[in-house]
Amino acid sequence: MKKLFRKKPIDDLLLKSGNIQLPKTIGPFDLILLGVGAIVGTGIFILPGTVSALHAGPGIVFSFAIAAAVCALAALCYSEFASTVPVAGSAYSYSYIVFGEIIAWLVGWALLLEYGLATAAVATGWSGYFISLLEGLNIHLPVALTGAFSPEKGMYINLPAICIIFAIGALLTLGMKESTRFNALLVAIKIGVILLFIVVGVFYVKPDNWAPFLPFGMSGVFTGAALVFFAYLGFDAVSSAAAEVKNPQRNMPIGIIGSLIICTLLYVIVSLVLTGIVPYKNLNVADPVSFAMEVVHQEWAAGIISLGAVIGMMTVILVMMYGGTRLLMAFARDGLMPKMLAQLSPKRKTPVKNTWLFTVVISFFAGFVPLDMLAELVNMGTMVAFIFVSAGILYLRKNKDLPENRFKVPFYPVLPIISFVLCIFLITQLSMHTWIACGLWFIIGIVIYLVYGKRHSSLN
Ligand code: ALA
Repeated sequence: MKKLFRKKPIDDLLLKSGNIQLPKTIGPFDLILLGVGAIVGTGIFILPGTVSALHAGPGIVFSFAIAAAVCALAALCYSEFASTVPVAGSAYSYSYIVFGEIIAWLVGWALLLEYGLATAAVATGWSGYFISLLEGLNIHLPVALTGAFSPEKGMYINLPAICIIFAIGALLTLGMKESTRFNALLVAIKIGVILLFIVVGVFYVKPDNWAPFLPFGMSGVFTGAALVFFAYLGFDAVSSAAAEVKNPQRNMPIGIIGSLIICTLLYVIVSLVLTGIVPYKNLNVADPVSFAMEVVHQEWAAGIISLGAVIGMMTVILVMMYGGTRLLMAFARDGLMPKMLAQLSPKRKTPVKNTWLFTVVISFFAGFVPLDMLAELVNMGTMVAFIFVSAGILYLRKNKDLPENRFKVPFYPVLPIISFVLCIFLITQLSMHTWIACGLWFIIGIVIYLVYGKRHSSLN
């Protein structure tokens, strides 16, 4: 029993990270770009359509605001951890220090669900826009190959989603030097097409479409918040850059909170314009933002937006796959998964075996499971991680030997507690089948830990 809760010594980690001197090149502006690049994707190009059609109506703007508030609180807790223990592995490593091995494993297992299925979900969203782009060019794929398994619609497999995951998996095995300039270009394209949508769309808004504003009441808004939560994922990727940031105590919170603020503004405005152009009931389509442009006969804008979305979503897939493969590496290094998963290819210096394993498994989900189901599961995994990071702050502060100049969550302990409670509340808004699927996922995780991880842990 004692073995289950053994902890990694914090001093050891701090000492080790002190020895590794990565060049500190990232400033606050780069961090915000990194954050917006990792965050803006399917969430803005798809969820405002499906979630408003099925759950929240135009009131989806409140859903976005609530989800943003929860994320901001969790983001503050992430910032404190990232500036106290700037190590790889994010919430998994933080939990190893404060809660012990089994909880760390479960948090890591939840993060694996987040990164894995978020990759699949964004690839599915990407596929929707890619297909609409091809159709604009008069190229039509057979319907059977264009969507998750649903024979009643004549769809069997989402082939474009599988292809993009394999393509980006291959890129990752080749070795990916993070290039902030390349990232900045893609972010500019993404933001550019979103602004184009807003500027063109605002002229076609009919306020009548906003009535009723809350067709599903406040309960629809809360369910919507639990669903659009997905749109904010990716800011934890910012926290993992901590070791390379200049003055992380000041810049980490600026980067994380700054990117969240920009994304919230974009999401709220896009949702308002979208539900103002098209009645919310008609928005349950695979490419709502360009669909809205077609409805108002601005086909040129629809085409540009589809292209921008296709380019922009690729960076999100890349960041999520990167996160997933590096998490597997961390598990393997700690002995909780076979060492093979941490092996680097001698030529490329990337975890090639691990990346292909991740690619094959995830492409299965992208090929056969619909987006809304994927997104719900991703949210569940993420909220579990947030719950532990928020509660972790309370435990972290008990340690008296922490560096003094680190960033601290303001209004301690009120904010971490509110963050904890709100995440639990949002989890209760998710559907029963998500709870069951997630329960199964954790049971599998516990079995793997008891059969493998506990015996092979490097803490033995
Ligand atoms: N936040 C990411 C997206 O919306 C997952 O695509």
